[in-house]
Amino acid sequence: MTGASQAVGSVVHGSVLIRSVRPYGEGDPVDVLVTDGEIAALGADVDAPDGIDVIDGEGAVLLPGLVDLHTHLREPGREDTETIRSGSAAAALGGYTAVFAMANTAPVADNSTITDNVWRTGREVGLVDVYPVGAVTVGLEGKQLAEMGMMASGAAGVRMFSDDGKCVSDPLLMRRALEYATGLGVLIAQHAEEPRLTVGAVAHEGPMAARLGLAGWPRAAEESIVVRDALLARDAGARVHICHASTEGTVALLRWAKEQGINVTAEVTPHHLLLDDSRLQTYDAINKVNPPLREERDKIALRQALADGIVDCVATDHAPHASQEKCCEFAQAKPGMLGLQTALPIIVETMVNPGLLDWRGVARVMSERPAEIVGLTDQGRPIAVGEPANLTVVDPNTPWVVHGRELASLSDNTPYESMSMPASVVATVLRGVVTAHAGEVTR
Ligand code: DOR
Ligand code: ZN
Repeated sequence: MTGASQAVGSVVHGSVLIRSVRPYGEGDPVDVLVTDGEIAALGADVDAPDGIDVIDGEGAVLLPGLVDLHTHLREPGREDTETIRSGSAAAALGGYTAVFAMANTAPVADNSTITDNVWRTGREVGLVDVYPVGAVTVGLEGKQLAEMGMMASGAAGVRMFSDDGKCVSDPLLMRRALEYATGLGVLIAQHAEEPRLTVGAVAHEGPMAARLGLAGWPRAAEESIVVRDALLARDAGARVHICHASTEGTVALLRWAKEQGINVTAEVTPHHLLLDDSRLQTYDAINKVNPPLREERDKIALRQALADGIVDCVATDHAPHASQEKCCEFAQAKPGMLGLQTALPIIVETMVNPGLLDWRGVARVMSERPAEIVGLTDQGRPIAVGEPANLTVVDPNTPWVVHGRELASLSDNTPYESMSMPASVVATVLRGVVTAHAGEVTR
């Protein structure tokens, strides 16, 4: 199903009718008519043009299309593990209409040639809007600022910069990056990890790592950078975004910083909301991730923080790795796990089903807030007539079982193998074009 479509430059606008769906899971079901990329009508028994593609939304919830601020697409350089095409397919199947592709590619996305290429390839694939994240420092080496201005003013219009995978640990360099970013009106996203405290670390520092004989990654490695960067942002009048918050202490520091009026935002991953370090007992490196899976109390604090808005949004940190990089000794394995196709059902499991968030809340943390944080004006919009039709149809009552090999990613490093997920994405719509439907991508 492709929808009646019309090319506008490289952007395609489509038309589709979504029948009998409940926006935000509220009220009676309505029909949603989309024409030329916009919501044209919304109500009971909407008249639709003959021949228009129809999606049956019976029993399903309609959300604004999901926005992921933290995805690793591995192109250029590691196309054996993911490409912009395969990652875009995973995103569309997961309900995403926009993803931010991290800069730790090979070569690093620290210049506009690479960021513009990632952006263009994303557009050509057309399954999701791919926004490249530029590196803060040349080669992610933490020594010299990258040409952020060139990347911001290129075709991709880069709006977020991060050395993710590595922390911008030099405080003076981070200060300069925040000042420079403020002038450019772009966002710095920090992977908060004081590297001197994590030398050799492979797991959360706590009783589990001690028992297993694994070198520990202390909470303070994250928290010391969170508070440092909040203070730097305060003094520079800058904004800073904290990637994948993982500890109870980070939550307390974010609360404090927000109370001070400091412009700090933060994301949490689905895996830090669902899993904890009890998973490590088998030494299976599928559970190795950075920051590491923490303890039960961190998980509980993160869930509450997401419900309260102290943590602003959910971001996947989708991190594909080849099987030889995961099926090896724990200490040698690469950190990271797949996330795009399992994020929404995990939020249903950890936040909606326990009553911490309603569907409005899901729209807020998975679409509206991430779009606001990076200033996207066509994503995270209200479901209303005249708005761009970036939409996700989710069936909260159809469970499915995860099998890594069946996911769209070129890698299969999911920690959720054989686990049942409580909700399914029925369809994803990007500017009126159906990008995924019934478990298949359409392009
Ligand atoms: O687990 C992780 N994997 N954390 C990161 O910060 C980087 C990512 C990756 O690139 O694999
Ligand atoms: Zn990271």
